[in-house]
Amino acid sequence: MTAQILDGKAISQEIIAQVRARVDARLAGGKRAPALAVVLVGSDPASQVYVGNKKRQCENAGITSIAYDLPAETSEADLLALVTKLNHDDAVDGILVQLPLPKHLNAEKIIELIDPAKDVDGFHPYNIGRLALKMPLLRPCTPRGVMTLLEKTGIDLVGKDAVIVGASNIVGRPQALELLLARATVTVCHSKTKDLADKVRGADVVVAGVGIPNFVKGEWIKPGAVVIDVGINRLESGKLCGDVEFDVARENASWITPVPGGVGLMTVATLMQNTIDACEARGR
Ligand code: GUN
Repeated sequence: MTAQILDGKAISQEIIAQVRARVDARLAGGKRAPALAVVLVGSDPASQVYVGNKKRQCENAGITSIAYDLPAETSEADLLALVTKLNHDDAVDGILVQLPLPKHLNAEKIIELIDPAKDVDGFHPYNIGRLALKMPLLRPCTPRGVMTLLEKTGIDLVGKDAVIVGASNIVGRPQALELLLARATVTVCHSKTKDLADKVRGADVVVAGVGIPNFVKGEWIKPGAVVIDVGINRLESGKLCGDVEFDVARENASWITPVPGGVGLMTVATLMQNTIDACEARGR
């Protein structure tokens, strides 16, 4: 079997068009466009690319983006003061602080200060708690985007064995909550997991998010499994590659996401969804 490609480019464009239609309906009703504050501290090159993509997709979706590009030396007090100001600004619907932050800044403390109703990244403990308790509000963008991709396969997730490789706060942990909510049986693997290959071999759905090129071997993939590759790794050649050994995995899987052109685009499209959701839920 050669897998069908889950086309993140096409599906993300569909999502952006749906957001755009919701924004246009607001504007036609005399309301303002949703507004997203995008906070970048320092000049990490990968973060600059991601933030640039977020601003560009805001334009395509009709969302106003307000950029705060702060120097790497920004103090924690100044960043906390900015978040407080944005929390109180009624014209701001979403607040995104790009991670990772420089080492002297406590990311948990900053995320926890964001108003959960404006937490379009879905990283606030309140929003993670809501997801854990089967009553999600704002959901982390990458795992929600992965669920949108999985819906497109038409495969029913109820009772399926899902294996997540990687237990990060941004991907693995919230992905486990999403898949559990969809009533899959979920295994989360991490750096201390024994017999990783065997775990992956049993999976109907594999989600890889570890940030190591070709970490998940193609021969581990069960025939017919769905493979979602969240990794975006830059090789020395400058080429981008995922966490899954794509060429071999593709021969076993029923569906697979490419890198680039897969989950990365979905993360940004889902951020646009979360921003219009936040704006509407705030009743603005
Ligand atoms: N860094 C890597 N992924 C993300 C994300 O989804 N949101 C933010 N704010 N930072 C990130």
